[in-house]
Amino acid sequence: MESPFKSDILHGKVALITGGGSGIGFEISTQYGKHGASVAIMGRRKAVLDSAVSALQSLGIPAVGFEGDVRKQEDAKRVVESTVKHFGRLDILVNAAAGNFLVSAEDLSPNGFRTVMDIDTVGTFTMCHEALNYLKKGGKGRSSSNGGMILNISATLHYTAAWYQIHVSAAKAAVDALARNLALEWGADYDIRVNGIAPGPISDTPGMSKLVPDEIESKAREYMPLYKLGDKWDIAMAALYLASDAGKYVNGATLVVDGGLWLSRPRHLSKEAVKQLSRAVEKRSRDAPVGVPKRSKL
Ligand code: COA
Repeated sequence: MESPFKSDILHGKVALITGGGSGIGFEISTQYGKHGASVAIMGRRKAVLDSAVSALQSLGIPAVGFEGDVRKQEDAKRVVESTVKHFGRLDILVNAAAGNFLVSAEDLSPNGFRTVMDIDTVGTFTMCHEALNYLKKGGKGRSSSNGGMILNISATLHYTAAWYQIHVSAAKAAVDALARNLALEWGADYDIRVNGIAPGPISDTPGMSKLVPDEIESKAREYMPLYKLGDKWDIAMAALYLASDAGKYVNGATLVVDGGLWLSRPRHLSKEAVKQLSRAVEKRSRDAPVGVPKRSKL
């Protein structure tokens, strides 16, 4: 689908995207590149990074890949520094790297819980921390008045509760807290905007195939208000809006892009049934004898 945005809205910007080699992270990398940004992607798997970089370059996007694990501070530091060395500056950090699997709370070991917290929450904080010096106003290659921006890929699981996702719910709740607190502190001190996007189920992503395997996908669709999955493109368009000047006053927000799914509840009655029931209840209440209130003795 064609982007509704002008192709130069990120002209001259440099973006570093963790988890940028696949899924939502790759689509954000592609759309940022198509709208003028130079793109560095970070990931653990060299082969995935290599093919993603070739795909970006074949679109004419200046792109580079750096191997690294967001759980390791030395990797975070090295990748941020390498990005600035390669492109001269850093304007946008997207934290899209995440870990997930379905597991009941009782079957999840504390180490499994910690692993997801380490990737999603501590990893996001570590990347932000290492990028601060370059994103802040007056940072390398930046003017003394304009800071950069951070975008975290979150989720909606923790708005209510989610089956078999206690680890990710906890991790993403913390990621949203990071966005708000950094928006406050770094917005005030350094002119850095920090926001999030909370995607719903997005087709053709590693998250989707792990959390909603084919075996249950068609059933899952029945519960969605728009009766369809989102596309990676939907998330990338939101990411473009937030990174561009169109989003320059948005700070500390997490934009839900889920087709209204997190609001949804199973429909217990059909529309026709509720119409009939409602009429019957109304008729009963109108026909009921009106009781005369007893006079107070006071
Ligand atoms: N069910 C229950 N526990 C699991 C699990 C599963 N499916 N997968 C991993 N764990 C537990 C392990 O048992 C281990 O805990 P233990 O030491 O108490 O046994 C802990 O998690 C760490 O597992 P390990 O395989 O060593 O971690 P890793 O660092 O190699 O991999 C994961 C990290 C588990 C998050 C892996 O799924 C991953 O790399 N994911 C990245 C991609 C991804 O998930 N994308 C989806 C994004 S939404």
